[in-house]
Parts: sequence; structure tokens; C-alpha cells
Amino acid sequence: MQSTATTKPTIALRIHLRIPLESLAMFLLKAWRQTAFGVYGYLNFTKSGFLEHSKTAHGLASRGATVYMVCRNKERGEAALSRIQTSTGNQNVHLEVCDLSSVNDVKSFSSRFREKDVPVHVLVNNAGVLENTRTITSEGYEMNFAVNVLGTYGMTELMVPLLEKCQPDARVITVSSGGMYTAPLTTDLQFSSGEFNGVEQYARNKRVQVALTEKWAKKYSDKGIAFYSMHPGWAETPGVANSLPSFSKSFEGKLRTSEEGADTIIWLALQPKEKLVSGGFYFDRAEATKHLAFAATKGSHVAIDSIVDSLNSFCDFSR
Ligand SMILES: NC(=O)c1ccc[n+]([C@@H]2O[C@H](COP(=O)([O-])OP(=O)(O)OC[C@H]3O[C@@H](n4cnc5c(N)ncnc54)[C@H](OP(=O)(O)O)[C@@H]3O)[C@@H](O)[C@H]2O)c1
Repeated sequence: MQSTATTKPTIALRIHLRIPLESLAMFLLKAWRQTAFGVYGYLNFTKSGFLEHSKTAHGLASRGATVYMVCRNKERGEAALSRIQTSTGNQNVHLEVCDLSSVNDVKSFSSRFREKDVPVHVLVNNAGVLENTRTITSEGYEMNFAVNVLGTYGMTELMVPLLEKCQPDARVITVSSGGMYTAPLTTDLQFSSGEFNGVEQYARNKRVQVALTEKWAKKYSDKGIAFYSMHPGWAETPGVANSLPSFSKSFEGKLRTSEEGADTIIWLALQPKEKLVSGGFYFDRAEATKHLAFAATKGSHVAIDSIVDSLNSFCDFSR
């Protein structure tokens, strides 16, 4: 009895200590990732960072490219189309309507578009959302994941035949975010475990895009298609104002314009491929690190194969 009495508190103490230490380590790691990201972001991602790193931005349409805009809302898309045609004088700008949160819509858009049989030199995966509350699409997917990951994945895979027509110069540019610095790659794609946090889910999605870009670069290296992910910096856009109102307010006057945010996307579309690294992550016209120091995110990229298997199990994107 006596020995039991003395053993029990020891075991209890060990259990009691182990749990908080692990939680504390995870808490400190998360806090470090957030702090390192905040400091790095403040110095680089705002307007002052842009003015330091960049030169003049050039629009693709103003350079005479044929542009297909894929938008979910016909009216907003038509308004944007007419603004771009008027301001650039380029009539080769077209509107395609597709809701990227819907796998069925992505599939029907891409089969419609493939019938046009046009070559695609550059696919820009720009659409993205940050939904703060857990919303489920009519097809049953968590909304951030549906647009940022599944939509991006499906659109890219389904456009490969049209990109192949432009080899060896074809490229895919995926607009990720510096927010991904705060998240390792996780197989919990739809934030099914733990309390939902939209900002964290967005960061996780953006990390998936960076890891997918590495994966695609290897998968399609013999097809003459290059893949780049990038961070536009912190730009003043309707998305930031709606999804991150306090961030938007605190950085008032310091955020980049949309044109400044688009600068590296256009640069990646126009640079000779030999000067770029397929699979790389870019920021302000230069390759940037995918991992902040001591953030312990690097090793997590090994999970990409099982993530791709999951994406394929959600939907068959084979052509
Ligand atoms: N702004 C920043 O500071 C910042 C920082 C890092 C990364 N990014 C990334 O940059 C990209 C653009 O973001 P933004 O700031 O310009 O955001 P935004 O103002 O919200 O624009 C996002 C665009 O995506 C479209 N979109 C959203 N859901 C869609 C869907 N289901 N189907 C088709 N289109 C859809 C929106 O269409 P509607 O016009 O119909 O709403 C809008 O045109 C995103 O990938 C974002 O993650 C932005």
C-alpha cells in the first residue's frame, strides 16, 4: 500500500509535466513562427519593401498578350474586362466564368476551354480566399481548401495539355503568400482536427501551394513546363480589407498597391526561363526562402506525396 501511495503521485507528476512541456514547446514554436514572420513581413512585404526591391511594373495585357480571365462572377468579370480593354487598347482580353470552389465547375470549364485548343504559355493561379469561419461548399469541401488548394490543383492539372503546346517555354505561376511561413505542411487539408482558425487554414493552404509547385516542377520537368510560386507582398485589396480588417487598418498607408503586388507575377511570366528556378518560391523579382530560420517547417514537405494522393482521391483530375 505504502509503495503504491508513493508511486502514484510520481506517475501523475510525470504525466502532468510531460503534457504542458510538449504544449509549451509547440506554443513557443508557433509564437516564434508568428514573430519571425511579423518582423520579416514588416521589413519586406509592405510598400517600403517594394520600393526598395522593385522597378517598374508592366501589365501583360499592355504588352499585347492574349489574356483569358477566369472569374466566378459574370458581371464583375465583364466590368473588369471592359476596364482592361479600354485602358490597354488590347481587345484580345476574354472572360471565362468559373467558380474555382467547385470541382465540377473547374472540370466543365477546362473541358470547354480545351476545345478552343489554344496554346497556354502562362497559367496564373491567382484566385484565393481567406474565410474566417468554417464554411462548407455545396460539394462538401471546406471553402478555403476548395478554392486555394483543390481549385488550384485541378485547374493546373487540367491545363497541362494546353501548356504542353507551348513547351519548352510554358509556365505556371501560383500566387501563394508569405503567410505560409507560419505553417508547416499538414495532411489535415480541411482543418478537421482542433478549433478552426481561418488565418491558420489560409497559411496551411498557401504552404500546400508552395509544396505542390515543387512537386509539379519534378513531375513535368520533361514536358517543358516550369512552375513557380510567389508572394506578392502585403497589398491593399478588397480581400485583405474584408478578411483581415484589423491588419488592414494597422497597415493603412503602408500596404502595396495591387499593381505593386502583381509586379513579380508579370516578371515571372516574362523572364527567360533559364534565369528562373522551376519549383522555386519568388518574392520581389528574386528567389526567396521557403522556410524561416528555426521555424521547423522544412521537413514537413515530405508529406506532399500523400497530399497529392488525397487530392486525387477527392476528384479524378486525369484528362
Ligand atoms: N493582398 C495581399 O496582401 C496578399 C498577400 C499574400 C498573398 N495574396 C494572394 O494574392 C491572391 C489575390 O489576393 P487579393 O488580395 O487580390 O484578394 P481579393 O481581393 O479577395 O481577390 C481574390 C480574387 O480571387 C477571386 N476568387 C475568389 N474565390 C473565387 C472562386 N471561388 N472562383 C473564382 N475566383 C475566385 C475573387 O473574385 P471576386 O472578384 O469574384 O471576389 C478575386 O478576384 C490570392 O491568392 C491571395 O492569397 C494576397
